[in-house]
Amino acid sequence: MELKTLNEIEIISAPHSKISEVDFENLTFGNVFTDHMLVCDYVDGAWQKPVIEPYAPFMIDPSAKVFHYGQAIFEGMKAYKDQQDDVWLFRPDENYHRFNKSATRMAMPEVPEDVFLGGLHRLLEIEKEWVKKGKGNTLYIRPFMIATGHGVIAAPSQEYRFMIILSPARAYYSGEVKVIIAEHYSRAANGGIGAAKAAGNYSAQFYPTKLANEQGFQQIIWTDDATHTKLEEAGTMNVFFRINDTLYTAPTSERILDGVTRKSVIELAQRENIKIEVRPVLVEEIVEAAKNGSLKEIFGAGTAAVINPIVGFSFQDHYYELPKLENSMALEIKEKLTNIQYKLSEDTFGWTVKI
Ligand code: COI
Repeated sequence: MELKTLNEIEIISAPHSKISEVDFENLTFGNVFTDHMLVCDYVDGAWQKPVIEPYAPFMIDPSAKVFHYGQAIFEGMKAYKDQQDDVWLFRPDENYHRFNKSATRMAMPEVPEDVFLGGLHRLLEIEKEWVKKGKGNTLYIRPFMIATGHGVIAAPSQEYRFMIILSPARAYYSGEVKVIIAEHYSRAANGGIGAAKAAGNYSAQFYPTKLANEQGFQQIIWTDDATHTKLEEAGTMNVFFRINDTLYTAPTSERILDGVTRKSVIELAQRENIKIEVRPVLVEEIVEAAKNGSLKEIFGAGTAAVINPIVGFSFQDHYYELPKLENSMALEIKEKLTNIQYKLSEDTFGWTVKI
């Protein structure tokens, strides 16, 4: 895939760059932003000319629907720098299409490809210096759309703002990740917005996750809302289980986000002849496998988190510790995936796109 750049755009340069003030070795995820952002407004039923302008706070009417009804969606993507100083995106078309699916579900207008992908290309050309070389260094890309229309009537907004902001990032989780299996709270329900990358899907997790944090767990593995018997998603990631030498992950549904990393893990595993089954994963089989020692690994997969091993889980007040393995499939797959992303190995899938 080749990414076209967007020429129909206004560019207002930042008077000076903040880059020399940033400690790239000690970044907290999502805290530092680059010099510029992309802004494009939807007014009178049409997308206006996008602008790349200095990163800064902006004015918004207090009655805007994003504040009252949470009409907001986002994406998570990353840019990587290779050894030759070229900057690459990973499967950006997947994020673009998912963004517009989320938009449709939230009664928001679709964003045109030239604004989303062409605008991102242009923004990255300007911010290339912020993508640092070396595995682990990335520029996290956050495209998002909010309802800016005035008035608290509970109906879709007539006005929207699409934006892209960029944040240099390393790991999302800095320490070990232990999880609790959800027995009461739910992340999503059939017919709901679980498959959309809607802001409310994440804020709805904050309270149960806070309770989990208080008990020493970093994340929750969400189960199906109707029976709490099927394992579905882990907080900010999709989730995989290894029993003996087979990987299992739940099929996507109205309740589960169609993760780009999840999809890539499945395709990579298939290419590497790692046994993988996409089918409902039951809480009871994972608990049983933990008890009899056949549960070898659990790991999360997501853009921000990449591939994150989970060291243990709690269910019905019992904590199950996972074995420490020499031959971790999670780490093997992570290595293969990140080698493709950083152009350290051949991308036979055609996933990487040059800026
Ligand atoms: C991502 O992995 O990019 C996400 O969007 C999850 C987010 C909560 C950091």
